Amino acid sequence: MTGQEKVFKVFKEKFGEEPKYIVRAPGRVNLIGEHTDYNDGFVLPMAIERSIWIALRPRVDKTLKVYSLHNNSWAEFEIDDISKGLGWLEYIKGVAFYLQDAGYSLNSWEGVIYGDIPRGAGLSSSAALELVSARAFFEVSNFTWNAKEMALIGQKVENDWLGLSSGIMDQLVVSVAKKGFASLIDCRSLETKNYPMQNVAVVIMDTNTRRGLVSSKYNERFAQCQDAAKLLGIKTLRDISLEKFEQNAHKLKNILRKRARHVISENERVLKATKALENSDFIEFGKLMIASHKSLQNDFEVSSKALDIMVECALEQDACYGARMTGAGFGGCAVALVKPEQLEEFSKAVSSCYQKQTNNVASIYITKASDGTNTVLL
Ligand code: GLA
Repeated sequence: MTGQEKVFKVFKEKFGEEPKYIVRAPGRVNLIGEHTDYNDGFVLPMAIERSIWIALRPRVDKTLKVYSLHNNSWAEFEIDDISKGLGWLEYIKGVAFYLQDAGYSLNSWEGVIYGDIPRGAGLSSSAALELVSARAFFEVSNFTWNAKEMALIGQKVENDWLGLSSGIMDQLVVSVAKKGFASLIDCRSLETKNYPMQNVAVVIMDTNTRRGLVSSKYNERFAQCQDAAKLLGIKTLRDISLEKFEQNAHKLKNILRKRARHVISENERVLKATKALENSDFIEFGKLMIASHKSLQNDFEVSSKALDIMVECALEQDACYGARMTGAGFGGCAVALVKPEQLEEFSKAVSSCYQKQTNNVASIYITKASDGTNTVLL
């Protein structure tokens, strides 16, 4: 049964009628452009075929009631009297809070929620939860859907409600993605450009390792990038070429120099990668992914042993154009571009290589580029 079918069925059981709407938001995988978004840089992610769904109907009062198929339990709060707490409901509360704070007048809803995006894996289950909640409010309230604005509301939840200094990549691609395309995002102007993902397979390889303290390490990287930009006399690390940076690198101490070099070189790699996609040059794209991983491993220092092994296992296969860690890092997933006709043997070989070297079992998710947040027709 698909996630959509699950929320539909359980909604009928819980509420005794069919839902009025089913809304959905996907996870995402970033092909290249890591830790560049909060430096006003470039990223190239795509939405994946795993999502969060909510089946819902409007309510006349201000109570929001939601049944989670993960915990098999109900949760509720008043959308006109929101206070902070802990747990997954914070994402929905945060969205309700910042939508109203931005002037949206909201009605409430009740429903059933389920998702199949693995959590903490670097596939943006939290951005999906934010955007799917915004979409639920949109359906029961009276406002126009502005995909970019909704992404910014989601980012505000991360930054101000949850205290994570994350950039706009996840929310924006989860909101605006188009089926069959990767999205180049300019994280300064928020302009996006779609690039077709054809004749190549995208394979996500989950190390099944999850690290604590990711948010504190993430915020530390964010601060280091800001410090580096200040010392270089620029607004953000977006504002300098690699060549100019090399001439000025002596102004920075070793750690900041490495952090900055990653971001600045990664921005250049993203732009080269879009050219490679335009030419269907997956060999070149693969090389850029490999360089990105090295830079994340050695300069930005956000990879992990498990991620490095996974990437090595992928690169050993003839079918593989390139591979790298994806998302914030420290654990979670790597991504590979693979020849479609050799997908099955690639997946098997990577799984067995990873297991041999780590005694841990990998999960492999093969995915096509999917649509961003939407309402699923009943
Ligand atoms: C997380 C953040 C994004 C981005 C990536 C790293 O996914 O939410 O904003 O910074 O890490 O590229």
